[in-house]
Amino acid sequence: MPKTFFITTAIDYTNSPPHVGHAYEKILADVIARYHRLKGEKVFFLTGVDQHGQKVQQSAAKAGIPPSEFVKGITQKFIDLWKKLDVQYDEWAQTTSDRHKKVVRGILQRLFDAGQIYKDKQAGYYSVRQEQFLTDKERGPDGQFGTEWGEIEFREEENYYFKLSQHKDWLLAYLDKRKDAVIPDFRQTELRNAVEKITGDLCISRPKSRLDWGIELPFDKDFVTYVWFDALTNYISFADYNPSLSTFNCQPSTFLQKWPALQIIGKDILVPAHGIYWLIMLHAIGFPDDQTPRLLVHGWWNLSGAKMSKSAGNIVDPFVLADKYSADALRYYLMSDIATGQDADFSEERLVERYNADLANSLGNLLNRTLYMVTKYRSGKVKPVRFAFAIGEFDSPENESELAALVVNFPVDSMPFVPDYAGYFDAHRVSIVLEHVWDAVTACNTLVDCAAPWKLAQDPAQADRLDAVLYYLAESLRIIAILISPVLPKAAHGIFDQLNWKMELNGKEERFSLADAEWGELPDGHVVGKPVRLFPRIETTEL
Ligand code: MSP
Repeated sequence: MPKTFFITTAIDYTNSPPHVGHAYEKILADVIARYHRLKGEKVFFLTGVDQHGQKVQQSAAKAGIPPSEFVKGITQKFIDLWKKLDVQYDEWAQTTSDRHKKVVRGILQRLFDAGQIYKDKQAGYYSVRQEQFLTDKERGPDGQFGTEWGEIEFREEENYYFKLSQHKDWLLAYLDKRKDAVIPDFRQTELRNAVEKITGDLCISRPKSRLDWGIELPFDKDFVTYVWFDALTNYISFADYNPSLSTFNCQPSTFLQKWPALQIIGKDILVPAHGIYWLIMLHAIGFPDDQTPRLLVHGWWNLSGAKMSKSAGNIVDPFVLADKYSADALRYYLMSDIATGQDADFSEERLVERYNADLANSLGNLLNRTLYMVTKYRSGKVKPVRFAFAIGEFDSPENESELAALVVNFPVDSMPFVPDYAGYFDAHRVSIVLEHVWDAVTACNTLVDCAAPWKLAQDPAQADRLDAVLYYLAESLRIIAILISPVLPKAAHGIFDQLNWKMELNGKEERFSLADAEWGELPDGHVVGKPVRLFPRIETTEL
């Protein structure tokens, strides 16, 4: 049975519209999914929205509409955004769908029957804003609960609990055994430390009297399930998991082909949600250790060092940025200016700076000048002349050091970075991938400056050199288009269009394949198209 690469992201809360942080996570997942398709693998990319909960109920009440109407509006905003940003997912998870509810209820019933869920009474201080009971751990040095908890009240309530702490030792052993359970390493350490501190069980319900916007417990109609059994289960309910089959291997083949997933989540929901609750939930319903998903934990985009939030009023709207600068410009910035796993500071000035420097000047110019020269000096036709003999011999003494660097960086008839591309991508180091690709772009531009094709064109004795240089540039651009296609799908198509290459697959993702990143595919006599500006410069006065 051929395995499908299964990639998921956190589902987004529908209590407020998407911001640039949400966009980052989906673009990262989309880039990784596109990379796997580029390698020829089958991919199942799942994302969606988290529609239940108290905050949604409150926001809907504030807006004076039923929660079902409220979530429809916000859900549509997320769908529109992913379309605008070329985020291409295979399945859309929305937690109010019947398909999902059935699986959530099936799992709860199974765990209840197995004695993993019990009813208990809790009394204590409760944060209405954070929707949780508070313990002494939450008290500040002055013994009071901080303002971040909002209004505090004393509550006594019966609820259902999942026997979380019973699985603590399993989780510790699992984390010790599996070194890549969480990526990057320091997050695995953070998780392990948190697991050590598990003491109690997990409250998984709310009485309907105060929250009815949720999935009803199958064994008690007076309660809905609260947050995690509802939200986390999406990763399997939309992948064809069948809760009535308790043996993992008996699951439908459509599920087994996909699972386990690589799950992409932000750093805020590793502990306790995904790292503790989710992994334990899967273990409790019979997932073997080798079927436990890996968690890729990304950092956050902040604004001047501060967290972006609706209440702080510092939300950056990705719709506005995509309309102003294009989807590719936003994708490039969000993928190149952050190291996966670390935080970064969002800056519109920096987005424009990188766009102008890397896309408009470096890559855009390279494409433009290459096509212009091939058209002008060779009527658009390329000729695969070997480049080796010419490289150190260009008559440009003032550029000697650059030429020397080129000789090292440009082995004959190849692009040096291609063999390492997959390694960096498999390590999710997208910004490093881009750095290397841009080294190649810079080297090509240096080659143009050093070789000065306009001079070569004046001397018929230099015809071979001119052909060699032009072929090198055109072929490099073809390979560069393939390598950037996961991050910049539109630009990659634009380059192929202008190179007049694989026109029959125009607009289709299959146009790009890593196997085609081999040197020398442009045939003798291939006619390239006319240059068209791929990335018009952004004038900074527009800011
Ligand atoms: N609905 C829950 C997740 C349930 S998963 C079963 C949730 N939603 S969220 O809308 O608050 O966040 C969705 C994702 O966006 C999370 O992975 C979160 O880390 C990520 N981000 C939210 N703000 C972000 C930034 N400022 N920067 C990067 N990612 C951010 O959590």
